[in-house]
Amino acid sequence: MNSSLKSAALSGSPDSPRTGLEARLVARPDGLPALDNFEIVEVTVPEPVEGQVLVRNLFMSLDPGMLMLVVGGPSLPAPRYEVGAAMYGDAIGEVLSSADPSLREGDLVVHRLGWREYAVASAAVFRRVDRAAYRSPSLHLGFGLVAYVGLMDAAELRPGDTVFVSSAAGATGSMAGQIARLKGAARVIGSAGSPEKVAHLTGKLGFDAAFDYHDGPVVDRLREAAPDGIDVYFDNVGGEQLRAAIEVMNVHGRIAVCGALNRQRAVHPDGGPGDLLSLLGKRLTIRGFTLWDHLDRAAEFGEQFRGWLREGSIVYDETVVDGLASAPQALLDLVQGKYTGKTVVRLGS
Ligand SMILES: NC(=O)c1ccc[n+]([C@@H]2O[C@H](COP(=O)([O-])OP(=O)(O)OC[C@H]3O[C@@H](n4cnc5c(N)ncnc54)[C@H](OP(=O)(O)O)[C@@H]3O)[C@@H](O)[C@H]2O)c1
Repeated sequence: MNSSLKSAALSGSPDSPRTGLEARLVARPDGLPALDNFEIVEVTVPEPVEGQVLVRNLFMSLDPGMLMLVVGGPSLPAPRYEVGAAMYGDAIGEVLSSADPSLREGDLVVHRLGWREYAVASAAVFRRVDRAAYRSPSLHLGFGLVAYVGLMDAAELRPGDTVFVSSAAGATGSMAGQIARLKGAARVIGSAGSPEKVAHLTGKLGFDAAFDYHDGPVVDRLREAAPDGIDVYFDNVGGEQLRAAIEVMNVHGRIAVCGALNRQRAVHPDGGPGDLLSLLGKRLTIRGFTLWDHLDRAAEFGEQFRGWLREGSIVYDETVVDGLASAPQALLDLVQGKYTGKTVVRLGS
């Protein structure tokens, strides 16, 4: 099974129009997608008309939520990918030419037109970012802000809390565990899917304890790691890990629901939070959140994040995959647990 590379435009002589690659969905799968559900197509890149901008993408983000957009169905966080059309997602690129006064050639911009090498669209869909903010433009695609608002706003983190993070070696989880510590958590516990990732959590990322969620009942592993219970659960997964967190949670505990990886990978119901009486008895709060409701925190977070990076108190873990043609396989690998940290695809140098 291979994603195919097709040519929708000829390029050759120096005078021929600019062409670039884009990724499309060729068929909507019944369950999880396979590589042949995607194709990589070479297309002609139009010149920007008045009010538009041409951007050469440098990096695009891969996010497990993209699987939901491939599969379709109810409660999607964004419009599903359409068969035969270019896919989309977060990306960062450089303005090559602009027909709008708000952006200039050379500006670095973030936007939602990933899964393609070049993006041409209204200037309004691009947001200029500071080129000097980070060592690599790819850091603008990180999920630190997701982790920050999940902890501070949804879970109302307090100094002294014991915090449990699932999918802790991933893009959001690796940030959530470290930010919880920097914001005063007394103990930070993470779960991940392999012994190597567990070692990564307690080693490089500085978690106090970690376990492999495949090692027997999650509730037993969590009790061992948190003998005095947990106060906050940063939930990336749902299912058994959510039920275990509720069981081990202290009175007035708070759960921030960031994602549902268990559903995103398995595409079936996962049993939900279990016995709701324990929510009542312990006066627990479960709050789902999305980043989009908290964008006003971006400047405040960015300032702290850059400070933590400068002083070396946070590790930014990133996996870089090269080339758009590798992106469909990398998306499938991402949800199978192949990578750690934030996964991005490098589209240009
Ligand atoms: N609320 C928001 O605004 C917001 C924003 C961004 C992302 N999200 C969501 O947050 C979640 C985390 O996103 P992310 O980008 O940080 O992903 P991520 O954690 O980097 O995702 C990849 C990892 O998920 C783990 N995983 C896959 N299936 C699993 C399962 N059934 N049980 C446990 N772990 C599983 C795998 O790690 P292991 O090897 O450890 O299994 C894999 O390496 C996703 O659900 C995403 O859609 C929400």
